Amino acid sequence: MVDVSRVNEILERHGSRRERMIAILLDCQEEFYYLPREVLEAVAAGVKIPLTSVLAIATFFKAFSLKPIGRYPFRVCNGTACNIQGGPLLVDALERELKIKKGETTKDGMFGLDTVNCVGCCGLAPVITVGQDVHGKVKISSVPKVIKQYQSKAPAVPKEGKDAPTVH
Ligand code: FES
Repeated sequence: MVDVSRVNEILERHGSRRERMIAILLDCQEEFYYLPREVLEAVAAGVKIPLTSVLAIATFFKAFSLKPIGRYPFRVCNGTACNIQGGPLLVDALERELKIKKGETTKDGMFGLDTVNCVGCCGLAPVITVGQDVHGKVKISSVPKVIKQYQSKAPAVPKEGKDAPTVH
């Protein structure tokens, strides 16, 4: 269940202004790690525009996700260079370490795992991105270390609304 009062705080911060819509949605995404339907409805009501308009923005920009992706979304590059350099083996290693399958999010909402098309730094293959961070030349043996790096940043207790369905 999403705590909509948090959406109201975000709306208030931005004066519920239409022209602040992207900033509002970015803050919501940061708060909930994705944009659940209840959040989009609350934003539409707060800004007084149709839900379809909010949905259009939320689906247009790659920065937004309508599915749980985890606070730290691990993305293994699926491009040719990364594939040749062992990208699929990194997916296997991450699945083992995070105990989820590709396309899923951990129960605590902290980590998501998926693949992504070439992220444009093929010289660093194989590449994993975690949010804005890029990890290049990642070895299978260093996967636990990369995960640990984010575990140490993560709060012990997930925020309300992060225990949403884990499979997308
Ligand atoms: S193929 Fe992975 S960064 Fe280009």
